[in-house]
Amino acid sequence: MHHLTCVSCGATFNAAQILYQCPVCGHLLAVEYDLDRMEIDPRAWKERPLSVWRYREILPVSGHPITLQEGGTPLYHLKRMGAEMGIRELYAKHEGMNPSGSFKDRGMTVGVSMALQLGKNTVACASTGNTSASLAVYAAKAGIHAVVLLPAGKVALGKVAQALIHGAEAISIRGNFDQALEMVHDLCRSHGLYLLNSINPYRLEGQKTIGFEILDQLGGVPDRIVLPVGNAGNISAVHKGLKEYITLGLIDTLPMMTGIQAEGSRPIVDAIQRGLPEVIPERHPDTVATAIRIGTPVNAEKALAAIRQTGGTAESVTDDEILAMQKELARKEGIGVEPASAASVAGVKKLVESGKIDRKERIVCVVTGHLLKDPETVVRQCKPPLEIDADLRSLLSALRL
Ligand code: F0G
Repeated sequence: MHHLTCVSCGATFNAAQILYQCPVCGHLLAVEYDLDRMEIDPRAWKERPLSVWRYREILPVSGHPITLQEGGTPLYHLKRMGAEMGIRELYAKHEGMNPSGSFKDRGMTVGVSMALQLGKNTVACASTGNTSASLAVYAAKAGIHAVVLLPAGKVALGKVAQALIHGAEAISIRGNFDQALEMVHDLCRSHGLYLLNSINPYRLEGQKTIGFEILDQLGGVPDRIVLPVGNAGNISAVHKGLKEYITLGLIDTLPMMTGIQAEGSRPIVDAIQRGLPEVIPERHPDTVATAIRIGTPVNAEKALAAIRQTGGTAESVTDDEILAMQKELARKEGIGVEPASAASVAGVKKLVESGKIDRKERIVCVVTGHLLKDPETVVRQCKPPLEIDADLRSLLSALRL
C-alpha cells in the first residue's frame, strides 16, 4: 500500500486521488510506502531479471504493468577514459539501451500503468523530446491516446520521429519547454488528461530503479552518482529510491548525488554554488544538449535536497565540453550517447580536474539517452564520408594506402 505525501508540509493524500501538487501548499508530492511493515527479501529479487519490475514490491502498480522490458541496462566500466582521468573506478550506466532509447521508459512503464490503474485513457506531457517519445511508445502499448507538446524547432529529430510513428498527437508550440509544461499542466487540470511529466510522482517511482540496478550491478553503493539535470526529476528519483533502501536496512550510506547542467541553462548549479534556498529560473535557457534546455526545473525542491543531504555537488559544462565528451565516449569506449548524456561524464572530468572530487572515488555516471536520438548534431560534428567512383583505384587513392 502507498499514499502521496507533500515533501514540504507533510500532508498526506489517498493514492486514488489524481494530484500533481499538494492541494494544501502547492509543493511537490512523493509516493510513500509503509516500508517499516514491509518484508523485503533482496535474495528473491536477485532471482528475477534485472529490470524495473525486479523491484515491484516498492513500486505503486498493483496489477499487470504495461511493459516492454525496460531497465536492465548495461553498467560499463570506463577503463580507458577512467585511466586518462586518473579514476580507477569510473562507470557509465547506459540508459540509452532502454526500449525507446532513454531512461524515460522506466518512468513511463510505471506512469502509463498508473494511468490505467486510475481509470485514465488519455495521457499527456510537455517534452524536450525523450519524454514524448517514451510516452508515445507506452501509450501505444497500452492502446490509449497520447498528446505531446514540444518546443518548436528545439527537439532532436530521432525523438520527433518516435513520437510520430508511435501515434502520439504531437503539437509544436512557439515557445520553450518551460512554457509547454505550464500549458500542458493547465490542460490536464482543466480537461482531465493524465499528466505524465516528472511532476507526476508516480513517474519518478519507475526512475528510482536506476539506483537499485547500479547497486545490484556494482555489488555495493558507489561513492557518487552523477546525472545530467534538466527538469531535475531523475536525480530526485534515484535519491528517493536509495533513501528507501536505507529505511529498509538494505544499505547504510548514500552516494553523493551530483547534478550536471549545461552552461546556458544552469539554475540548479547556481542555487547549489550560491547556497540559495530555491532556484532562480533561467528565462532564456540555451544549449546544444536540447534534452536539458530547461530554465525552470519543476523538481528543483527535491533535487536541491538530494544534492545537499548527500554532500553532493552540481557543476555546469559548456556545449564544447559536452560535444567533445560525446565524441570521446564514442571513440574511446564505444558508447554512443546524445549530448545531454555526455554532460554527466564531462562534468566528472571537470570536477576531478578542479580538485572538487577525489580520483579515488567509485563514480557512476548515468548516461541518459542513445546517440541515435540526435543524429543531426552528430552529422554537424563529423566529416561526411568521402564519395568516390566505384573502382578499386579510387578506393586505394582515397585511403592513401
Ligand atoms: N538526459 C536526457 C537524455 C533527457 O531527455 C533528460 C530530460 C535529462 C537528461 C534530464 O532529466 O529532467 O529528470 O533532470 N528530458 C525531458 C524530456 C525533460 O522532456 O524528455 P531530468
